Amino acid sequence: MPRYERIDGGRTTFAIAADESGAPRLLHFGIRLPNDLDLSEIDAASRTGPRESTPDVPIEPSLYPAAGMGWFGEPAISGVREAGDDAISWSTATIERRDQALVIRLVDRRMLLRVELSYVIDPETGVLASRASIYNDDEKAFRLQQAASLCLPLPSWATDILCMSGDWSREAQPFRLALSPGAWSQTNRTGRTGFPGSTFAVLEPTAGDHTGRVLAVHLAWSGNHRLLVETLPSGQRMANAGLHLAPGEVELAPRGFFETPTAYACFSDRGLNGVSDAFHPFVRTSILPQQMNSMRRVHFNSWEAAYFSFDETSLKELASAAADIGIERFVVDDGWFAGRRDDTSSLGDWRVDRKRFANGLAPLIQHVHQLGMDLGIWIEPEMVNPDSDLYRAHPDWCVHARNADRPTMRNQLWLDMSRSEVRDHLFEQLDRLLSENDIAYLKWDCNRFLFPAVSADMPAAAHITRGTYALMDSLRMAHPNVEIESCASGGARVDLEILKRTTRVWPSDSTDAIERVRIQCWANLILPLETIGAHVGPSPNPITGRELPMAFRARVAMFGHLGVEMDPRRLNPKDRETLAIHIAHYKNFRGLLHSGRLLRWRSEDGADATICVSKNADEALALVCRTEVASHAQAAPIRFPGLDHAARYRITLPEPWPEIAKRRIHDTEAWLGGRTFSARVLEETGLSLPLADPQTAWLIHLARI
Ligand code: GLA
Repeated sequence: MPRYERIDGGRTTFAIAADESGAPRLLHFGIRLPNDLDLSEIDAASRTGPRESTPDVPIEPSLYPAAGMGWFGEPAISGVREAGDDAISWSTATIERRDQALVIRLVDRRMLLRVELSYVIDPETGVLASRASIYNDDEKAFRLQQAASLCLPLPSWATDILCMSGDWSREAQPFRLALSPGAWSQTNRTGRTGFPGSTFAVLEPTAGDHTGRVLAVHLAWSGNHRLLVETLPSGQRMANAGLHLAPGEVELAPRGFFETPTAYACFSDRGLNGVSDAFHPFVRTSILPQQMNSMRRVHFNSWEAAYFSFDETSLKELASAAADIGIERFVVDDGWFAGRRDDTSSLGDWRVDRKRFANGLAPLIQHVHQLGMDLGIWIEPEMVNPDSDLYRAHPDWCVHARNADRPTMRNQLWLDMSRSEVRDHLFEQLDRLLSENDIAYLKWDCNRFLFPAVSADMPAAAHITRGTYALMDSLRMAHPNVEIESCASGGARVDLEILKRTTRVWPSDSTDAIERVRIQCWANLILPLETIGAHVGPSPNPITGRELPMAFRARVAMFGHLGVEMDPRRLNPKDRETLAIHIAHYKNFRGLLHSGRLLRWRSEDGADATICVSKNADEALALVCRTEVASHAQAAPIRFPGLDHAARYRITLPEPWPEIAKRRIHDTEAWLGGRTFSARVLEETGLSLPLADPQTAWLIHLARI
């Protein structure tokens, strides 16, 4: 008689059945089931009898399939001892249920291996956290070849997959495919989370922004990994997320153990917005470091304003100009440290450059504080330039293969973060920097791929990633109030494990607002607005060359953690005023934007809409923007979801109105004063604002009356 267990959270139930042999089977990961439902009914309804030409004991997709019992899909675990990997075969030893958690212990007594699977469901949001710990009970080592964080047998409705592609400055390009025989898989070997990220979703064919069933999976890991959805000839489908390990990378010592990263998964029956609805509050309460999770100040970042050309005087001038438009944090990007004049030297030498700052950073910090701002600074701790004092002193500290060339990328090499002496040295340098200077914020960058990913000639990518976490953890312990941003050539290190140590990510080096509509939208699938760095950049944009109106750029950036990344002194007075107005709007609305419920969608004719509704639905702010010319001059109305059906709302359109559209608005006078509509009209009829032209962005404020 199988044993049945379930855990519930939010609108979701996760239920399993455990037989005597094999790993437990998934009965249900989906809509919350009635408390008194007899789980054996699901089992009885879904079991099938034997088929021709299959093992005599039918093999069903389990939560941790191994090859030894006749599972011919991708196994959850494989490795080598004398008997070889194909021999692993589990029986379920114990199942423990603690409140929201299920801990399942599997054992292979012949191979002397144990696995502890941990599933924890968040009571409020239903987000499921899954990881595995693998124990070697033998006196001989076990070489782990793969170990999944999550294996999820998929329901038959999941016929599509939504996944991401991405590259430098072109992050977050979604594509949707019908699952077909064989496998969809995405393997990342770059040593960072990677530009495409580590999230995918399976959906029913009709699922969209607001409707339909979706299962989303995110692997919280900032290094090499593999995401996989396999469709077997039997029609069985399995999702698998875990580390990508090179042969020999992880060896379990006698009696040793290894813990996989955590994978997070959620079910939504309300399309992609239901996924965000689960992940955003979960990230806010269970991922982000709480002591650093303060109000998001408006940033100024010196990169696209000055690049490497600055000194103390010019930075002070920039700081004054930034404070004038309402900036609250002044971030000095690359170039402040010993001898750094371009990207060819000095990474590793984290001392203040005395030619640029004769008296250290103190005078600049004092100036910044007097202007009412705090100071942030850029670092890239894991990297070293061959032209640096650090490299000259310790040429063996970088990741390299013995007796081989040391190929660079952006003229730099990766430090071997798996070595404690390397981490100790970096800790000492950065601890000194933070102890001697009043620095509130670190932009932590990582501008290289990890290759060859070895330490002492053995594959070591996972250990190097864990070394970075360890350095961040010790710096955070020593300086708990310093906020950290995760940047990696833009958006190549955006994941929930790095976000346990950071407060925001830099999703792309592209500040082109049209690109950013897409990039921020997809980063938003699991990340709340306040974690997504969004800067108003120059026009023409330095990466794409595109010219865009200031109001459009500022509005798109307001729907993130707002910053400015250009020289405000080079703006004409009108643009400077428009920027300052939007900084004030952001300050006004950030309480709502950074705590509310976010819904995103595309209108029937391709306008991108976002609404952030307060928890009690008393207030909302929407951004509707058009990145391409609409097919018709009469654009489709914008309908607003997420409001209180019974309420009426006063609608105002914060100024300045988009230049290109304002002549065409109906009844300008009435709109200038604000208008009142019932939620039903806003939902069903929608608002017909002039929205046909590209680069039009309306801000729409709704307040319950
Ligand atoms: C990377 C980052 C940029 C900037 C530069 C500085 O490219 O993504 O934002 O900090 O490094 O060198």
